[in-house]
Amino acid sequence: MSPRAIIDWDEAGAPRSRRFDDVYFSRAGGLQEARAVFLEGCGLPGAWAGRERFTVAELGFGTGLNILALLELWQATREPSARLNIFSVEAWPLGEADARRAIEPWPQLAPLAAPLVSGWARTPGFHRIDFPGLNAVLDLAVMEAAEALGAWDGRADAWFLDGFSPARNPEIWREEVLALVAARSAPGARAATFTVAGMVRRGLAAQGFEVARRPGFGGKAERLEARLALRSPARAQDPPRIAIVGAGIAGAALARAFMAEGLVPVVLDAQGPGAGASGNPAALVTPRLDAGGGVPAQLFAQAFERAVGLYADGQPDAVIAGGALQLEAGPRDPSRFDRLAASELFDDGALQRLAPDETGERLGEASGGGALWLRDALVIEPRPVLEAWLDGCDVRRAEVARIEPSGERRRLLGPDGAVLAEADIVCLAAGHSCGALAPLAIAPVRGQASFVRAARRPNAAAWGGYVIPTRAGLLFGATHDRGQSSGELRDEDHARNLATLAQRRPLLAAELSHEPLEGRAGVRASTPDRLPLAGPLEPGLWVLGGLGGRGFCLAPLLAEHIAAGALGLASPLPRHLALALAPDRFSSRSAARAHAGPSEEKVP
Ligand SMILES: Cc1cc2nc3c(=O)[nH]c(=O)nc-3n(C[C@H](O)[C@H](O)[C@H](O)COP(=O)(O)OP(=O)(O)OC[C@H]3O[C@@H](n4cnc5c(N)ncnc54)[C@H](O)[C@@H]3O)c2cc1C
Ligand SMILES: C[S@@+](CC[C@H](N)C(=O)[O-])C[C@H]1O[C@@H](n2cnc3c(N)ncnc32)[C@H](O)[C@@H]1O
Repeated sequence: MSPRAIIDWDEAGAPRSRRFDDVYFSRAGGLQEARAVFLEGCGLPGAWAGRERFTVAELGFGTGLNILALLELWQATREPSARLNIFSVEAWPLGEADARRAIEPWPQLAPLAAPLVSGWARTPGFHRIDFPGLNAVLDLAVMEAAEALGAWDGRADAWFLDGFSPARNPEIWREEVLALVAARSAPGARAATFTVAGMVRRGLAAQGFEVARRPGFGGKAERLEARLALRSPARAQDPPRIAIVGAGIAGAALARAFMAEGLVPVVLDAQGPGAGASGNPAALVTPRLDAGGGVPAQLFAQAFERAVGLYADGQPDAVIAGGALQLEAGPRDPSRFDRLAASELFDDGALQRLAPDETGERLGEASGGGALWLRDALVIEPRPVLEAWLDGCDVRRAEVARIEPSGERRRLLGPDGAVLAEADIVCLAAGHSCGALAPLAIAPVRGQASFVRAARRPNAAAWGGYVIPTRAGLLFGATHDRGQSSGELRDEDHARNLATLAQRRPLLAAELSHEPLEGRAGVRASTPDRLPLAGPLEPGLWVLGGLGGRGFCLAPLLAEHIAAGALGLASPLPRHLALALAPDRFSSRSAARAHAGPSEEKVP
């Protein structure tokens, strides 16, 4: 968890920061202030009239009141197909109860606030929150302002500069921060703030803003409006044509991400949606657990939060079960799990240590060790998710054999040389076969899962092997055969899966040893450093691959990262994570370094 704001409540019930000894909003009326200072100060709604896309950024998310006022205005005035991107920064988030209390005086905002409250995660990093029905999305950066702006690659059309008064919080108004505000501004960007302090006026002017004083709100005589010069508008372009190769979870997540941005892709799959590794009857959605707190830990924590939000809120019918046990499986696990349970990357209570007896109770038989309970983990049914996310795009059954340039575009060719599609943006999401279409560091790892029809459905548990409930019973496994890519079912692999199950669920394994086993073999795509490939390979050619054994956790967020990059929008990933996933990263590293991947627990 990040450090929380400590709030005092004044006699009128308004929040005040103990750290800064300043108010979050005017005592004369927070919502009216938000409208008068920030919305009007940025020329809204006029500034977004006629625009298909508009981006607002804020320094100082606080209670979220400014953003709710913004959404209220957007709801009332937006063009039906227009998209609102919001980026807001907060270093000391309010606790959930304080945030609810702060906006209580405005019950009319409660429906708009629901996604903020339901998705209440205030751990360090970027968090993406959708506002369904409004075609709006918020990326909330929980970090210091300069760090957040340095990590963000968006361009704001309007800025709400709301970081407490310069006298009480000069840090957020310093030159470095204002220079980043200017650097992250679109031509003609406007900025608004409640203060007319000299350092703010001079600071904004030094960054090229034209600054004007306006009559202030409440007790304040004046407020500030600022504006950057407008460059001649870019020539309107036709929307880009997009083709996605592969309709597993990566391809479906890409389709969802592009459609959320208003574009309808063509999706080509040699054998149809879910034919590859993504076609099991159930999938466990868990992060890779890395106690180090570095890039892998941050990436998986953010991807996990986004995946859980999109499945649980967006596709609740696809959720089979919630919560999962990660069982201690080696001598280092007890201390590793202790560190993970205390990690600031996860919300309080999201990772809970369980003693051996509690573990046994949740497992349904004595386990011999303790566990980590992943409260927010999900078991999902992939098929309805793929169907929902591909719904509305042009899905074709076709094998792509080659991709070649065609003027400014790319052509996708079949094995017989026929042109299957032509696109401005091509995304490779062909699982382990991505490497056949582009030079990528991807190796196949064959895996077979076994499943059984059963009335009793277990709690999900993983320990190197795993067992999860399906709609019809349970699934367990799985084998890992590096370098193999054949898809046939093997009896000896069922036997290996039963032996793995017997390590931690001996009673269950004994019961199942007499049952007829069904199964499915798939091929994971692994990379030398066990991090996915997500980004551009060349202009117009993007890759989402190398998802290993965690595709259902990683794909939703990484698909949004790719859609944003391909369309020139702000990525939901902080810059350092985006860089760590660049598909061409191995070409610039020594092979030895690239192959020395971090150790991790074995995954599905
Ligand atoms: C046994 C097993 C169990 C697993 N369990 C889990 C789990 O519980 N949770 C989890 O998160 N992950 C799990 N994984 C990993 C997960 O399945 C993968 O990370 C994920 O499915 C990868 O998705 P993808 O879309 O990249 O690839 P795939 O699902 O393999 O999709 C690639 C698609 O591309 C198509 N394609 C390939 N080449 C071409 C071409 N040339 N032209 C057109 N189409 C093409 C294929 O037909 C396929 O449909 C498991 C993997 C295995 C093998
Ligand atoms: C005046 S309040 C913001 C009010 C908010 N806009 C609202 O609608 O409630 C200022 C906020 O800026 C945050 N803040 C102050 N300095 C910061 C910094 N350097 N980096 C990030 N956030 C900061 C504070 O924690 C506080 O939440």
